[in-house]
Amino acid sequence: MICLVLTGGTIEENVSLYERNKPYVDIVELRLDLLHESSRSRASIFPSLVDVPVILTVRRQIDGGVYEGSERSRLALIESSLDGDFAYVDLEDDIKRSAPEHKAREKHIRIIRSKHDFQGMPSDLYHRIAKISAKGEIPKLAVTPRSILDLITLFRVRTELKDVQEKIILGMGDYGLPSRILYKRLGSLWTYCADNPVAPGQISPQQMKELYRADRVNERTQIFGVIGNPVLHSFSPRIQNPGFHGINFNAIYLPFLVDSVRSFFILAEMLKISGFSVTVPHKQQVLPYLGKITREVKQIGSCNTVVRAKNLWMGINTDYYGFIEPLVTEIDNKNIQSALVIGAGGAARSVVWALRNHGCKVTIINRTIEKAQQLAEETMSSYDSLEHASSYSSVDLIIQTTSVGMIPDRDSDPIPDFTFNRNQIVYEMVYRPKYTKMLQRALESGCRLLFGIDMLVRQGKHQFEAFTGYHYPKRLEHSLQLEED
Ligand code: ATR
Repeated sequence: MICLVLTGGTIEENVSLYERNKPYVDIVELRLDLLHESSRSRASIFPSLVDVPVILTVRRQIDGGVYEGSERSRLALIESSLDGDFAYVDLEDDIKRSAPEHKAREKHIRIIRSKHDFQGMPSDLYHRIAKISAKGEIPKLAVTPRSILDLITLFRVRTELKDVQEKIILGMGDYGLPSRILYKRLGSLWTYCADNPVAPGQISPQQMKELYRADRVNERTQIFGVIGNPVLHSFSPRIQNPGFHGINFNAIYLPFLVDSVRSFFILAEMLKISGFSVTVPHKQQVLPYLGKITREVKQIGSCNTVVRAKNLWMGINTDYYGFIEPLVTEIDNKNIQSALVIGAGGAARSVVWALRNHGCKVTIINRTIEKAQQLAEETMSSYDSLEHASSYSSVDLIIQTTSVGMIPDRDSDPIPDFTFNRNQIVYEMVYRPKYTKMLQRALESGCRLLFGIDMLVRQGKHQFEAFTGYHYPKRLEHSLQLEED
C-alpha cells in the first residue's frame, strides 16, 4: 500500500490533499502535530470525511514531528481523537501503558509501535521488530542508513524476519530511498509518501505509483537501477520505467546512492538486481567486478551499463553509442572528416574513441594541456590548449564535453573566441540548459546543433535494449524531455 502523509494545517486542507492524491494512495496518515492548534480538537471527524483507512499520529519533536505541548497533553489529544473511526494509531516505542493504548484496544484500533532513528541504524534492529510483533502490535522502524552496507542490513529484514507478517520498515535519507520504493521486497506493509515531504527522502505519491509502480512489485519483478554519487536527480528512471511499462515488462528502475561499489555488488547479488546504469564517480570503479566487457569499455576504460549475463556481470558503454549514432552516416559519407573535442575528461574519452574508431580526424583541446596530450597519444589524435581553439575554425564538427555552460554556470562559454560557420555541426553534451551559451552562438551562425538531452536519451535507449532485449517503445520517445529550466 502507498500511504499519504497529510501535511495540511486544517482538516479541510487535508481532505483536499487526499482528494488530489486519491488515485495514488491506499491509506493516509493524519499528523495532528502538523495541524493548526485550533483544528486539532476536530481530528476525530477526519476518518468519516475520506474513504480510506486513516492512521492517527501526533509526532514529538524528538521523532521528527513538531508537537510542542507537554507529553501529558499529547497523550490526551491522542486519546480524545480516538473517538474517531481511525484504523490505526501510531504510538512511540517508549510509551508504556498509556490511556490511548487502552482506548485503542477497546475500540479495536490497531497500534503501530514506532521507533525513529535519524542518526543511523539501531544495533538491535531485528530484535526490536520481533519483540513488538510478539505483542500483537505492528512494529514500525524508520531508520537512517548511512551507507550501502547499512542498506544491506535493512534489506536483510526480509529474510531475518520473514515470519513477522505485519511490519513497517523504511530507510530515511538518500541511502534509504531504495527501501522506500522497494518496500514490498522488505516485507513492509506500506511506504510513506508526501506531497510536501516531511521526512528525509520522502517522494510524492504520484511518483511512487506512476513512475515506480512500487505497489505492483512482486516476486517476479526484475530490479534495475542507476548507481552514482550524487544520483537522486538522475533522469534515467524517467527513461527506463515508462519504457518497461510500455512493453509490459515486469521490472522497476530506481536510483541507488552508492558510497562503495564493492558493497553495491553485494547488495546487487542479495536483491538479484538484473542490471544497472553507472554514473559519476563509479564508471571506472565497477571495472574490476566485471566478468566480461566490450571492446569500447576496454578502450575507454569506463563502463556506464552493467547487466547480469548468466553467472557474471557484463559491462558495456552506451554513452559511446548514444554519442556516435547521429554522426555515423555523415562520417561514412565523408561530410564529417575532422572534429574538435573540447575537454579531456571521462566524457571526452568516449567521444574521442568513437570518432577515432570511425576514422575521423580529432583534435583535443583542454584547459590542462597535459590531459589533452595524454588522451591524444592514446587515441592517435592531435591536441592543443583551450586558448588556441580559434585556430581550428575550419573543422566539420565541434563537440563540447566539459561542464562549462551548465547550470548554474550558464553564462560561460568554453571557447568564446571561436567563430562558427554554417557548415559545421555543433554537439553539446551539457543538457541543462538545452541551449548553452556556446550553442546559442552556433545557432546564430547557422550551424546544425546536436543536444545533450538527445544523447542522454539515446544512451538510455541502448541501456533499455541491454536490460530488456527489446527496442524502446517508439510512441514514448516524444515524452522524454526535460522540463525547461
Ligand atoms: P566528465 O566525466 O564529465 O568529462 P571530468 O572527467 O571531471 O568529467 O572532466 C571534466 C572536463 O571538463 C575536463 O576536461 C576539465 O578540464 P581539466 O582537465 O583542465 O580539469 C573540463 N573543465 C571543467 N571545468 C572547466 C572550466 N571551468 N574551464 C575549462 N575546462 C573545464
